[in-house]
Amino acid sequence: MDGSLTVAVVGATGAVGREMLSTLEARNFPATRVIALASSRSSGLPLPFRGGEISVQELKEDSFQGVDIALFSAGGGTSERFAPHAVRHGCVVVDNSSAWRADDRCPLVVPEVNAHALKRHRGIIANPNCSTIQMVVALNPLHKAVPIRRVVVSTYQAVSGTGQKGIAELDSQVRQMFNMTDPDVKVYPHRIAFNCLPHIDVFLENGYTKEEMKMVRETVKIMEDPSVKVTATTVRVPVFYSHSEALNVEFARPLSPVEARVILHDAPGVVVLDNPGENIYPMPVSATGEDEVFVGRIRVDESQANTLNMWVVSDNVRKGAALNAVQIAELLARDNLLGVPDPMAFLN
Ligand code: A2P
Repeated sequence: MDGSLTVAVVGATGAVGREMLSTLEARNFPATRVIALASSRSSGLPLPFRGGEISVQELKEDSFQGVDIALFSAGGGTSERFAPHAVRHGCVVVDNSSAWRADDRCPLVVPEVNAHALKRHRGIIANPNCSTIQMVVALNPLHKAVPIRRVVVSTYQAVSGTGQKGIAELDSQVRQMFNMTDPDVKVYPHRIAFNCLPHIDVFLENGYTKEEMKMVRETVKIMEDPSVKVTATTVRVPVFYSHSEALNVEFARPLSPVEARVILHDAPGVVVLDNPGENIYPMPVSATGEDEVFVGRIRVDESQANTLNMWVVSDNVRKGAALNAVQIAELLARDNLLGVPDPMAFLN
């Protein structure tokens, strides 16, 4: 990294955008200039950065002139419209929305799993869904040791996955209920305070939610192995930060919990927290603010051969979004993968 990069954060005022700024700062990303972009509503808003402030600018099609890397987290519609213009200016996009994840031209990258896919990028790199990221960080090292046949995953997802508005909704509903008033329901179809919603993103024709099908499809693309079958139930829970996942993982051959712990102990980005006798296991409150994916409760599924159960927790705003995007940007810079081969490639 030569230290002369310009980076833009698109959606800088949001839950993930703010975390992207603080992650760039905390990891000393070698940018000489960092630009904060958001909607016209936020124009001029000061955001803290490197001991000072940067002023938010309105996102426009020409915002990317002279920008090397843009980290997008402003929703799918914004990415669809503006990422092609970033590429037009020669800027490489790391996009946190689902807009480009299924596009064959766009690598879908979790650095611990498939960093090599970055080499074939054409200007837009997709950051996977938060639930998928933490799952594949835990699964991939096991899959390399003993092939995984099938994963049954149930998620317990924090409201920060819905952005600032999800955080505000849980906060205000809890306050209203402690004050004995009926909570206002604005963001989710039902109350989220003291409730669980088996409904994340929209329902599809097959009866699954889009979030569930993201976990199915993205896992195969990232792990580059269509033989890994995934079925998911995704649930929003009244937790502010960090997603939890119960995984039931069937392998091609036996893998003992001891062997799985040894493999995961050595795996990049993973911390094993698995000492039930001492009440030690991963939890959202302890994962929040941390970079790693925490794995525990590793045990044999006694109902089926070659199968383990495990519990995986990670900070969805960090590893599930901002940190993963910044790690991708670090690799792009380190491996000289900046610049785009065809600036007009994503414009219709
Ligand atoms: P703004 O704060 O100006 O609305 P979150 O996911 O936490 O809700 O944040 C969404 C982010 O995406 C915010 O920074 C928001 O900016 C930004 N955003 C939403 N819509 C647009 C848009 N049309 N153009 C630019 N930024 C947008």
